[in-house]
Amino acid sequence: MAAPKSPLARSEKIWFDGDLIPWDQAQVHVLSHVLHYGSSVFEGIRCYNGKNGPQVFRLAEHIDRLYFSAKVIRMDIPYTPAEFAKACRDTIAINELDECYLRPVVFRGAGAMGVLPKNCPTHCAVAVWPWGAYLGDEALTEGIDIMISTWTKMAPNTIPSMAKIGGAYVLSTLAKMEAVRQGYAEAILLDTNGRVSEGSGENVFAVFDGQLVTTPLSNSILGGITRDTVIALAADRGMEVADTESRGALPRR
Ligand SMILES: Cc1ncc(COP(=O)(O)O)c(C=O)c1O
Repeated sequence: MAAPKSPLARSEKIWFDGDLIPWDQAQVHVLSHVLHYGSSVFEGIRCYNGKNGPQVFRLAEHIDRLYFSAKVIRMDIPYTPAEFAKACRDTIAINELDECYLRPVVFRGAGAMGVLPKNCPTHCAVAVWPWGAYLGDEALTEGIDIMISTWTKMAPNTIPSMAKIGGAYVLSTLAKMEAVRQGYAEAILLDTNGRVSEGSGENVFAVFDGQLVTTPLSNSILGGITRDTVIALAADRGMEVADTESRGALPRR
């Protein structure tokens, strides 16, 4: 059976367990633990066309979060963070891309079956490909329609939202599919206490009376690197920044 045409702007090579191999050869066994139980951690990183060549956005912080996520699910990454960062840069270089999206992923491979990962090797990969604005170019100029999801963000004592764990993204997928089916571009999820948490794939911000407000880490969000950057940039510009925890709640108009 012919494989469906990939909607991705594929690149030539993927870094997989230490080697740069052709895109089509970066494959996993169907009995990989990750496929059955969602045991992966990953990152989504942007690389921009900078003055001095490709510039990866806060690579060190993304690598740190990847290692943090792996630690949360008790998975040892068999490379140092410096080696992983180099793998990211090498993958961009070999694919000769000035601008791209990077997807590092670490996952449990095939070993014993069952939820307890026994003798499952840890595999690591980095794929890169050109990818435009996440919600489309028009979203940047026109804005988007969003809905409050009927799905609730997972409680803090379930899957930790601070770690970027593959299996947890089933919830984002459900929320996003619901939104798209109803004609919205994105969904915002509330936490188990009914407070604003985050979008299916992004943190949320609002500006009230010149004050930048974002949701706190305690509302079951991923500690976004963009969020951290926006907060720092706003503070640099003398803009007051608060999260909803310090403000109590989002103000009503
Ligand atoms: C659920 C969720 N929240 C927030 C973010 C934003 O994270 P960052 O700014 O680090 O890309 C993402 C990014 O993928 C995400 O999936």
